[in-house]
Amino acid sequence: MDSFEHRDGQYYAEGVALEALAREVGTPAYVYSASTIRGHVARLREAFADLDPLICYAAKANGNLAVLTLIAEAGCGFDIVSGGELARVLRAGADPGKIVFSGVGKTAAEMEAAILAGVLVFNVESEPELELLGEVATRVGRPAGVAIRVNPDVDPKTHRYITTGKRENKFGVDLARGEVLARRAIAHKQLRLRGIQCHIGSQITEVTPYAQAVERTRDLALRLKPDAPDLEYLDMGGGYGIYYRAADAPALVDYAAAVRPIVKGCGLRLVLEPGRLIVGNAGVMLTTVLYNKQSGAKRFVIVDAGMNDLIRPSLYEGYHRIWPTRGPPPPPLGSEGGEAPADIVGPVCESADFLAIDRPLPPVEPGDVLAVMSVGAYAAVMGSNYNDRLRPPEVLVDGDRFAVVRERESIEDLMRMERPAAAYRTLGASSGETVS
Ligand SMILES: Cc1ncc(COP(=O)(O)O)c(C=O)c1O
Repeated sequence: MDSFEHRDGQYYAEGVALEALAREVGTPAYVYSASTIRGHVARLREAFADLDPLICYAAKANGNLAVLTLIAEAGCGFDIVSGGELARVLRAGADPGKIVFSGVGKTAAEMEAAILAGVLVFNVESEPELELLGEVATRVGRPAGVAIRVNPDVDPKTHRYITTGKRENKFGVDLARGEVLARRAIAHKQLRLRGIQCHIGSQITEVTPYAQAVERTRDLALRLKPDAPDLEYLDMGGGYGIYYRAADAPALVDYAAAVRPIVKGCGLRLVLEPGRLIVGNAGVMLTTVLYNKQSGAKRFVIVDAGMNDLIRPSLYEGYHRIWPTRGPPPPPLGSEGGEAPADIVGPVCESADFLAIDRPLPPVEPGDVLAVMSVGAYAAVMGSNYNDRLRPPEVLVDGDRFAVVRERESIEDLMRMERPAAAYRTLGASSGETVS
C-alpha cells in the first residue's frame, strides 16, 4: 500500500502533483508520504493485533526528524544504533521506555547517554560489550536493561550484504554463548535481563526463516525465564520485505501467522524492529533528465541524481521502478513495459553510478522529471557528498500540502567543517598553544 498514484497523465504523492513539486523545490529531491507512513504502522499493528507487539521503528532506515515525529506520534518506540540516533529520536519525541539500542560497537559514552535517558534495553552482542555495560551502569549508579542478541544461524535468503543471522555474520552470539551471556547479565547487580533478541537480515521475502529464528530464540528465553524475573521481551528484529519490483513481499498477516503459534501464550511480549516496511514505499526521489546519449546500441539517460543520493542499486543491486512524472501511466507492478531499454545514470564519476540498467523507459527529453520509486528507506540516510554534490532536500507530503523537512545543502554547507591548516600544534598541547 502506498499513496503514490498515476492519474490524468501525472504522478501524484497523495494530493500533490510531483512534476509541479519538482519545479517548486528543485531536483534531486526526496518526497515522503505521511499517510503512507501512518498507514504502514496501522497495518502492522492490525496484522499482529492479538499479540500486542511493541513496535520499535529502526531509525536507521530514515532518520529525518519529521518522519521520526510522525512515527512517535503513531505510538511507536525506536530501534537505534548510535548516540546520534538516540539524540535524534529523543528530539522527535520518543518515549525512552520504548527505545531498544542495537549495534555491535556501542561506546561507553553512548551507553552512558542511553542509560541516563532511560532506554528500555541494550541489545548486547558480545561478552566485552556486556562487561562494559555493567561497568558503565555501576559507575552512573543506574541499572541497565539488557536483551541478548542471538544469532540463530538461519539463512534469510536475502542479499549477502544484508544477511545478519548466519553463523559467519558479525552480529550477535550463537545460542549457547547467548545463554552464558544471559546468565551473566542475570547475575550482575546493575544489569537486568529483560529480553532475548534476534535480527536475521533485511528485505526478507520468506516467512519460514522468521519462524525458525523466532522459535530458536523463544526456546532460549523460556529456558532462562525461571531464573530471570525481569525477562519479558522476545524481540524478532526487523527485516520484513517490501515490494520493489513486483508484489513479491509476503503480506504482513503472513509474517504474523508464521510467528503466532510460536509466540502466543509463551508469556513474553513480542518486539518488532521494522524499518524498511514502514518507510520504504513511502518515498520517491525526483530527478531531472539532463541528457540523452547513445553509444552504439546502448541508450543512456543521464539524470541529476546519482549513487551519492541513492546507493542501493550500486551497493546491493537494488531495483527501483523509475518512470516519468508526466505522460503515459507506468506498467503495472511486476512488468517493465516494452519501451527501449536505457541505463539511467547519474553525474558521479564512477561506472557504478547508475539508478537502473537496461530499463525500458519511454522517450524522455532534457528537463523531464522522473520518479524513482521506493526510496523512503536506506536512501537519504545513506547519501553522501561524494564529488562535492549537495545533498537533496527532503519533502513531506500530507494530503494536498507539503513541507520541506530538510533543506537542500548549500555550497557553504559543503565546506562548513573545514579549516585552513594555519595553526599546527604538537600532540598534547591545547588548541590555544600553536607552533608556527
Ligand atoms: C538490529 C536491526 N533491527 C532492525 C533493522 C531494520 O531492518 P529493516 O529496515 O530491514 O526492517 C536492522 C537493519 O539493519 C537491524 O540491524
